[in-house]
Amino acid sequence: MRTITVTEPGGPENLAVADAARPTAGPGQIVIRVVAAGVNRADLLQRQGHYPPPPGTSEVIGLEVSGTVDQVGADVTGWTVGDACAAILAGGGYAEYVLVPAGQVIAPPRGVDLVSVAGLVEVAATVVSNFDHVHLSAGETVLVHGGAGGIGTFALQYARALGARVLTTAGSAEKLALCRELGADVAIDYHDDWPAAVRDATGGRGADVILDVMGAKYLEANVASLATDGRLVVIGLQGGRKGTLDLNLLLTRRATVTATSLRGRPVEQKAAICAAVAERVWPLVESGEIRLAPETRFPLEAVAEAHRRLESGENTGKVILTL
Ligand SMILES: NC(=O)c1ccc[n+]([C@@H]2O[C@H](COP(=O)([O-])OP(=O)(O)OC[C@H]3O[C@@H](n4cnc5c(N)ncnc54)[C@H](OP(=O)(O)O)[C@@H]3O)[C@@H](O)[C@H]2O)c1
Repeated sequence: MRTITVTEPGGPENLAVADAARPTAGPGQIVIRVVAAGVNRADLLQRQGHYPPPPGTSEVIGLEVSGTVDQVGADVTGWTVGDACAAILAGGGYAEYVLVPAGQVIAPPRGVDLVSVAGLVEVAATVVSNFDHVHLSAGETVLVHGGAGGIGTFALQYARALGARVLTTAGSAEKLALCRELGADVAIDYHDDWPAAVRDATGGRGADVILDVMGAKYLEANVASLATDGRLVVIGLQGGRKGTLDLNLLLTRRATVTATSLRGRPVEQKAAICAAVAERVWPLVESGEIRLAPETRFPLEAVAEAHRRLESGENTGKVILTL
């Protein structure tokens, strides 16, 4: 089968098409014939050698795919060869076939192009698990950083669907307009004084929940932007790993700072998250309440271009590889 390898850690030019043996489904596993693979920021880090796959996982990059069931392992029920499906992966997505624990495979939402689903499943799983983790509930105010990105376009719509008031940040007029179009109540240019804008938009109260993709760079400002009993959940480290935490602010506000990663979770947790996505997110997608993010598609052979596109910061929504 065709797959993508990294010739040596480094730039996008080090991504190459290669031949590999097709996987075989063992007990509890499914092999998917891949139609499309989502491209994620973690893939860029893995290519550079900074984000190795968890032990026992494929060395091939790729955290999400859509496709059809190719093989069903012993004791797996509910799937037939040829069924349309999507999956979150610990790795292996940039290939014609990928081996996945059956619990991480879900049927796609009805009425959605199967290629687009490859760009939806990882963001949905990430956002649902994190909003659950910090108990985002109706009537609360959430701040979603990077509202026009892959995570952000989904997160702000899902937060709205949960009944939250949504504040978001983005880096250009065009991206801010998209955030508003997708339902953000307040969209703030992050080049401006966004903490002041959050204070203004909340009458000085702050946000109940912040979903953050910047890490260290925003830690102090995020904590200062939390309401009493507020929760900051960090899922991205684009602004670095080590920051300063004002514990006095945390204790006076009874606030929480937490961080999670989907990739390293045990299979059982990923299976529960996938089930939650199918049960709670797909109906919202099927009814049109959650719209697909804009997407930029590249054929598998143009993977280097796809990585350059995501790395440039110019992309809006998702980057997807098609096979
Ligand atoms: N922990 C997990 O399980 C998990 C899972 C999936 C993704 N992630 C992480 O989540 C992050 C976002 O992923 P993605 O797929 O959405 O990537 P993406 O599509 O490339 O989006 C990156 C986002 O970061 C925003 N951004 C850049 N600089 C910013 C700043 N100074 N202030 C606020 N926002 C800024 C961008 O905004 P503009 O486009 O407006 O500039 C864009 O929305 C990545 O770090 C990724 O690794 C984590």
